[in-house]
Amino acid sequence: MRKRILELLRASGAEPVSGEEISRQLEVSRTAIWKHIQTLKNEGYEIESVPKKGYILREAPDKLFPQEITSRLKTKWLGHSICYQDSVDSTNNVAKAIANGGCENGLMVVAEEQCSGKGRLSRGWISPYAKGIWFSVVLKPPFLPQEASKCTLLAAVSVVKTINKLKGVQAAIKWPNDVLLNGRKLVGILTEMNAEFGHINYVVIGTGVNTNGQKEDYPEEVRDLAVSVADVAQEPFTRVELLVDILKNMEDLYEDVLEHGFAPVLDEWRKYSCTLGQEVKVIAPDETYFGKALDIDEEGLLIVQREDGRIDKVVAGDVSIRPAAAKNGAYQ
Ligand code: BTN
Repeated sequence: MRKRILELLRASGAEPVSGEEISRQLEVSRTAIWKHIQTLKNEGYEIESVPKKGYILREAPDKLFPQEITSRLKTKWLGHSICYQDSVDSTNNVAKAIANGGCENGLMVVAEEQCSGKGRLSRGWISPYAKGIWFSVVLKPPFLPQEASKCTLLAAVSVVKTINKLKGVQAAIKWPNDVLLNGRKLVGILTEMNAEFGHINYVVIGTGVNTNGQKEDYPEEVRDLAVSVADVAQEPFTRVELLVDILKNMEDLYEDVLEHGFAPVLDEWRKYSCTLGQEVKVIAPDETYFGKALDIDEEGLLIVQREDGRIDKVVAGDVSIRPAAAKNGAYQ
């Protein structure tokens, strides 16, 4: 109901819409409309009541409310079912709990803040309130479990395609799933899977995009490693607009994969990669070595030529990759 009220107010722009008109269109009483307007005001919507004329929507809060998302959504199924939370431990955890109880393909969990955001390799992910887009989607792909990492590549391409449309933003993908800008981390993606032998029950793709974070929003130890879209964008953007565009790109790429396989996504991934062609340091659980990142194979594994000429295929999740400059302690 509130989504439809907002749609009517938005469509009318600076012209007031009377309570009577809204109640006629939505077929509910004027008292009910008044109550919904009060709730919207409490949620942070600036709605002006013009005596004898009606309501004007002056400003929407910078929140990722479901009604803000669904009224802009361009997807056919991804993100149509939304679990919105003000604050959670981790959107991935919430998404997994929902998926374990049964949910449809494409459900999204989104939060303003994560108190225990999770990163790869048991690291954390700092997710300050309304300073980023912290969301997880549940997909049920007909792939084999060993192909699930491809979902991460797909998500990385979707995000970079979206944010690089903003003037001034030129992000790149560091294999397999980091999106970097000027060598600093802009986006992180954590894919988790629930599978049985030969069958994926679901994957949860959790994505964190730093949109508006400032240095002081991060603990000192990661302050110099993080960057946000607002640091570089030369045009205004809103989190909700970025989110709906990411979802659209994700759905398009996913459908492309189902129809044509992974080759087109891998090609796009290569286009945005800042890893390929670079000297890298591979930090595996049992050894650390230097080499050159040559390509990714059709499974999304990184092909690395060691300094002694041997070719390795590196599995995401097992290793950390640093540019060879990390020989001198630099981070990327
Ligand atoms: C990484 O780079 O290590 C991955 C970071 C992934 C962060 C996102 S934010 C939304 C989702 N929920 C989480 O707890 N983690 C992912």
